[in-house]
Amino acid sequence: MSTDTVSEHHEYDVLIIGAGGAGLRAAIEAKQRGLKVALVTKSLLGKAHTVMAEGGMAAAMGNVYPEDNWMVHFRDTMRGGKMLNNYRMAELHAKEAPDRVHELEQWGALFDRTKDGKILQRDFGGHRYARLAHVGDRTGLELIRTLQQKVVSMGTDVFMECKVLKLVHDNSGKVAGCVAYWRATGEFVTFSAKAVVLATGGVGKSWKFTSNSWEGTGDGHAMALWAGAELIDMEAIQFHPTGMVWPLSVRGILVTEGVRGDGGILKNSEGERFMFNYVADMFRAETAETPEEADRWYDDHSAGRRPPELLPRDEVARAINTEVKAGRGSPHGGVYLDIASRRTPEFIRRRLPSMYHQFMELAGVDITKEMMEIGPTCHYIMGGVKVDAETTATAAEGLFAAGEVAGGMHGANRLGGNSLSDLIVFGRRAGMGAADYVESGKGPTGFDQSEVDEAIKEALAPFKRETGENPYDIQRDLQEMMQTNVGIIRTASEIDEAIVKLEEFTERINNLSVKGGRAYNPGWNLATDLPSMLTVSKCTARGARERKESRGGHTREDFPKADPNYGKINFAHSLPSGGDWHGEIKTVESPILVMPDELKALLEDGK
Ligand code: FUM
Repeated sequence: MSTDTVSEHHEYDVLIIGAGGAGLRAAIEAKQRGLKVALVTKSLLGKAHTVMAEGGMAAAMGNVYPEDNWMVHFRDTMRGGKMLNNYRMAELHAKEAPDRVHELEQWGALFDRTKDGKILQRDFGGHRYARLAHVGDRTGLELIRTLQQKVVSMGTDVFMECKVLKLVHDNSGKVAGCVAYWRATGEFVTFSAKAVVLATGGVGKSWKFTSNSWEGTGDGHAMALWAGAELIDMEAIQFHPTGMVWPLSVRGILVTEGVRGDGGILKNSEGERFMFNYVADMFRAETAETPEEADRWYDDHSAGRRPPELLPRDEVARAINTEVKAGRGSPHGGVYLDIASRRTPEFIRRRLPSMYHQFMELAGVDITKEMMEIGPTCHYIMGGVKVDAETTATAAEGLFAAGEVAGGMHGANRLGGNSLSDLIVFGRRAGMGAADYVESGKGPTGFDQSEVDEAIKEALAPFKRETGENPYDIQRDLQEMMQTNVGIIRTASEIDEAIVKLEEFTERINNLSVKGGRAYNPGWNLATDLPSMLTVSKCTARGARERKESRGGHTREDFPKADPNYGKINFAHSLPSGGDWHGEIKTVESPILVMPDELKALLEDGK
């Protein structure tokens, strides 16, 4: 086994942790300013949850509906987020997304095209107009590929398979870098930097059924909290309505909303297109006599109508949940998604090539002929690190955050397609914010070695216990518990039980035991992820307990309606004692930013 000391140290102006869309975009911006920039990822370059945003990136370019503009996009985003959003982030996002998409095109992204050669835009839930720039159903992949190529061509240093354990401060409390280890060797490495950007993505691996792959363990959320930043809206978890449910080995894998955007409909076991029952009365096609007539009625954009399958994700996921609970589900606990009866095989294969292959290879289902069995899957966390909209600065000086790890932009529920545009809008702003901070000369002076020593001691502790718990057992139990107790529909008693159980998990993680060496030891790697998973789960459960209403991705069976008083506040979590996952989390109400009148007026349009 290697020694317990740090074997390497690196120094940078800007250190970016996480190499998905936000991290890559931040790197480009900081690098363009002539700074020394590094990207650190615990995975491989190009492998990030960004690729799971398959259907497109939302930007009001008006290529398909010329009447679309930033104001409508802003309104849709705020309404989708049930008004809990940081309005300024939603405003900047809506205004800047089109430029960021055009920039991607200049850097080589190959978008699908309209007949007259413009970037084609696709329908998605909660968007008034077809707004998602896309590349078939592989848009996230194209975004990553394009940004990655740019980052590498600019000569940015990239550290792959390097897992960051903790942020490190200087003596005055400014964030000054991090301590990490190489997954290949288990050797420790430190990075000092004048500014650090977190772009670590989400937390989905704390739930049993998720579209997230092994990386989504909430490392950035947890590290930010431990380092002195605040987390907000952690109760707002997005269950994407359509994940695979069968075979069990692939349960949770995403089925893009693009299927519904391109005409797919949802049916229950009785063959009923049940989403018609979940739209508000005023939008019901009461007079339609045939399904075709109802379809035409719903799809009339000029009247502000949308197919019911394109309600916001929280609403569709709840409807599916209700159908299953009522005994109208599919054999494996989902419902059916049908595009075969609606579009030609040629259309399906051209527009949705990944979905075609995914179902054919993993489930033996030909989606051009058969229906898909789908159900909600934990996909995204709206909550995250509280940031300043303009700069992405957090409450921990020297620390910036962008992408899924940052909170505020999406409020209580994110509209599909707003994630990729969020990454490029706020990734760029994080790079700018960090670069401005570096150039201001206010950055850290020094690097607290005692924090490094403490993190290493903690990371190695599981090797020193002869007996103790296996990390995989803890992970499985945590996922099971969060799925059951803090899942798609919540009640006070289940959440209270979760809060008690999470304390038991604290004890169990304190008693972890890992066998073998440090080189490529996945059990150890997981052991170092568990403190983050526990920290974010605690914040989610606490937020869920405090928010005694239903809003967006937070549904309380015991408080089924939205309460206007809760619409004025976020729940903010902090760690007043500082330190790490052992510290006592404090949860308080934090008033949301008050929107200026001219933006409020945009929300009053009834359409
Ligand atoms: O369904 C999807 O393609 C996912 C998109 C997103 O989460 O933005």
